[in-house]
Amino acid sequence: HPPRNKEPQLERWPLSGDAGHGTNAIGVSQTRADYTVPPGDSLPLGACWEAVTGMSVAKTTVDKLLKGYDIRLRPDFGGPPVIVGMSINIASIDSISEVNMDYTITMYFQQSWRDKRLAYGELDLNLTLDNRVADQLWLPDTYFLNDKKSFLHGVTVKNRMIRLHPDGTVLYGLRITTTAACMMDLRRYPLDEQNCTLEIESYGYTTDDIVFFWQGGNNAVTGVDKLELPQFSIVDIRLVSREVRFTTGSYPRLSLSFRIKRNIGYFILQTYMPSILITILSWVSFWINYDASAARVALGVTTVLTMTTINTHLRETLPKIPYVKAIDVYLMGCFVFVFLALLEYAFVNYVFFGRGPAQQKKINERLNKANNERTRYEEKRLREQVDAYGNILLTTLEMNNEVMPSDVGSSVSDSRNSVMSFDSSGVQFRKPMAPRDGFSHHSLDRSAMRSRANCRLRRRSSKLKLKIPNLSDVSTIDKWSRVIFPITFGFFNLIYWLYYVN
Ligand SMILES: *[C@@H]1O[C@H](CO)[C@@H](O)[C@H](O)[C@H]1NC(C)=O
Ligand SMILES: *[C@@H]1O[C@H](CO)[C@@H](O)[C@H](O)[C@H]1NC(C)=O
Ligand SMILES: *[C@@H]1O[C@H](CO)[C@@H](O)[C@H](O)[C@H]1NC(C)=O
Repeated sequence: HPPRNKEPQLERWPLSGDAGHGTNAIGVSQTRADYTVPPGDSLPLGACWEAVTGMSVAKTTVDKLLKGYDIRLRPDFGGPPVIVGMSINIASIDSISEVNMDYTITMYFQQSWRDKRLAYGELDLNLTLDNRVADQLWLPDTYFLNDKKSFLHGVTVKNRMIRLHPDGTVLYGLRITTTAACMMDLRRYPLDEQNCTLEIESYGYTTDDIVFFWQGGNNAVTGVDKLELPQFSIVDIRLVSREVRFTTGSYPRLSLSFRIKRNIGYFILQTYMPSILITILSWVSFWINYDASAARVALGVTTVLTMTTINTHLRETLPKIPYVKAIDVYLMGCFVFVFLALLEYAFVNYVFFGRGPAQQKKINERLNKANNERTRYEEKRLREQVDAYGNILLTTLEMNNEVMPSDVGSSVSDSRNSVMSFDSSGVQFRKPMAPRDGFSHHSLDRSAMRSRANCRLRRRSSKLKLKIPNLSDVSTIDKWSRVIFPITFGFFNLIYWLYYVN
């Protein structure tokens, strides 16, 4: 881009200039340069001389070391294996994921080995070189066995360090973030402990050529005590070094394993407490009157649905594993309790509204059958006993009517719509509006008699209705539920926590 290259300052001027003080980009950079680089005459002359000679000595040393260095051959080629010490400083562990069964770790990974070709005697200094020198030196072909995706941080330059020691020891450090597989057994989730590992192995060199060890023994891994994991706490760290055999030979392997324990607090708040409260809420139904079906059914259905929602939410954060987890057991338990509370109401409702009327219906049918023939007979007789003006003879009524004096009022009100009425002094059937002629009295008689029969039936059934729903039965079911449900739930909790916490 030739036009841009001509005036580089112009592109930057709005960012670097301070408009208020009227300085431009060049002015600012000049003042900064004045601050950062001290004036040359303030340094002692001797120190400056030493630095210059040291630099030239180091330069010649490095030149000499790298001249004729063959990167293709390992140190002590053909001789004893290279011994590589490893140490790790863990910067952070994050996103331990149950869904993917892995965890992500960021660490400073250091390896050191001795390469006699890189020994120098002229300088008593450790030489920390630019990271690009690493490309010109032999490096162990270490890899992480269980990593899924790793990267070396590259901002601002590749985060690696190479330091040479006078005896030829090379210290090679990297800052790596790796996502490593960690197969988890979630049977006890969320009351579980997991054992996640980081396996380090040589990719190509067998134990004949390379040997790994944890540098510093059990102190090879540092930074663990400073780790903050949101959902876990680290219980134990173990370092193992061993050899593994493959068809191509046996390889050195180091493994770092840490046991992590899940913090239950989150799940108490998020899952256990709501489930417990919802279960308790479903018992409120036992204290509500049995004939308030709207209230009790709504309560039951709401609690069942809420339990389903809690279950669904939990499922989203977990892989689709086939076995039952500890939290599933609890949620299913709560679900069963809530469901049974709803069923209890169904039962109560059946006893109160279902069984009673059904029995009553049966009794009614039986009564009807028995009465039918008698009624027909009575009707016939009545028809004969009604006189030409629609009046029934008193004697017949007295014989057939079972109406108690107190019942009369109710019967009157029941039969308001009929064409007859009772006169309590002289009991008499009358047709109030119809003309008293001889032609219509037959139809009147028939309707009067039908109404009368109905009256009697209704009276009998109302007597039955009072008897059949046994209210003490219904409230006993609720009373027992009030005790049995909480006790069983408490028992369930006791067993659950005893089993899973240990
Ligand atoms: C060089 O490094 C080694 C090991 O880290 C250390 O013991 C030694 O003091 C260092 N030498 C100098 C001159 O800094
Ligand atoms: C994790 O499991 C491995 C293999 O079963 C075992 O060798 C290691 O000791 C365990 N780690 C911890 C910290 O218990
Ligand atoms: C209702 O149940 C109670 C106790 O179970 C019993 O004593 C009573 O006789 C029953 N009443 C009827 C009408 O069946």
